[in-house]
Amino acid sequence: MNRDNSAIEAQQMKIRRTITIVSIVVQLFGVVYHTAAQDIPALKDVFKNDFLIGGALNRWVVTGRDTKAAAITKKHFNTATAENDMKWQSINRSPGRYNWEAADNFVDFCEKNRISIIGHCLVWHSQVPRWVFRDNAGDALTRDALLARMKDHIMTVVGRYKGRIKGWDVVNEALNENGTLRNSQWLRIIGEGSEEKQYDFIENAFRWAHKADPNAELYYNDYGLETSKAKCDGAVEIVEHLKSKGIRIDGVGIQLHDSLDRPVADGLEYAITSLASTGVKVMITELDVRTRTRGYRGADVGRTNRRNTRDTNADDAETQEKLADKYTEIFSVLLEHKEDIDRVTFWGVYDGASWIGGSPLLFDRDYRPKDAFFGVVETAEKYR
Ligand code: G3I
Repeated sequence: MNRDNSAIEAQQMKIRRTITIVSIVVQLFGVVYHTAAQDIPALKDVFKNDFLIGGALNRWVVTGRDTKAAAITKKHFNTATAENDMKWQSINRSPGRYNWEAADNFVDFCEKNRISIIGHCLVWHSQVPRWVFRDNAGDALTRDALLARMKDHIMTVVGRYKGRIKGWDVVNEALNENGTLRNSQWLRIIGEGSEEKQYDFIENAFRWAHKADPNAELYYNDYGLETSKAKCDGAVEIVEHLKSKGIRIDGVGIQLHDSLDRPVADGLEYAITSLASTGVKVMITELDVRTRTRGYRGADVGRTNRRNTRDTNADDAETQEKLADKYTEIFSVLLEHKEDIDRVTFWGVYDGASWIGGSPLLFDRDYRPKDAFFGVVETAEKYR
């Protein structure tokens, strides 16, 4: 990425200056807005000329049990992702048996509220029932048997919602931090330890998703693309590999599960510009900012659980100011590169339903907009 250092320094200065100014403005206007929350601007209007903006929805939102989260969704979002209800474990717990209720509720809610729908996710190493990789005797499936099972699942699920889904996270989190492919059962069984076949499970997943719904956009989605250049380069390799085979891929999702204790601007800019240079759309697909300052703060589900996300200082003023600065930093980069960004999705609607606890989103546990919300809005104003 050869760019004139002075241009990079100027951009970094602009981002730092924006953070400072927005931080001051938020302090001044925060009180006013907080007392008149119903007058807050709608995020989908604030960013209407930049990118789609949305959230991951759980079943309480889409079934009307969480009316306040549904109200935030309807006011602020023009896109939504199923947080769990379209995953293999939710839809197809046992062989041949499908439970469509939760996924149908999600799709119906989005269509009723004119929210564009993101299907998440078809092929992932997590939240897939054990039987998927086993034969009737409990032994590992053969390559061909697992390919047939993957095809059946994708054709069934994508086919059911044909024409109703904007795009699918076809393959999720297939990379290691160093950019090599994760040693998942998909890779082991379908790849058969052969370098030549290592991308076969990815190629086939994208081919079958396209066959099942020719009009749906198809995405590769992963975390840590903004913190590991090697991992980001691995995602570029996946895109280039699929394109070299004439297989449709429309975008790459940078999940952006961020945290307070590290700057993100440079790494995020590298990821956006590297991925955009392949010609695909770039999306921020699972945005949240962990406020907890202890323990593992990544997005690997295998290493995170809500029990260890206690966060005693989440709501104090210092944390909230740092959170507002962090979201200002993130949205400054996104608006600098808005030509490459198609969508920004928060991983949740409000803190009370976040998968990580603490204070990671723009709305607090009482559904109120936080300083971070006003920081995001002020940042958008700065880039008008
Ligand atoms: O539905 C069951 C429920 O029946 C049961 O009573 C309950 C208690 O065991 O568990 C419920 O399932 C939980 C599920 O969320 C639905 O709430 C699972 O245990 C829990 O592990 C699962 O966590 C999800 C996590 O993915 C694990 O896959 C999080 O909500 C979800 O936010 C998170 O999202 C992932 C993305 O899909 C991919 N990128 C990383 C991101 C964060 O890990």
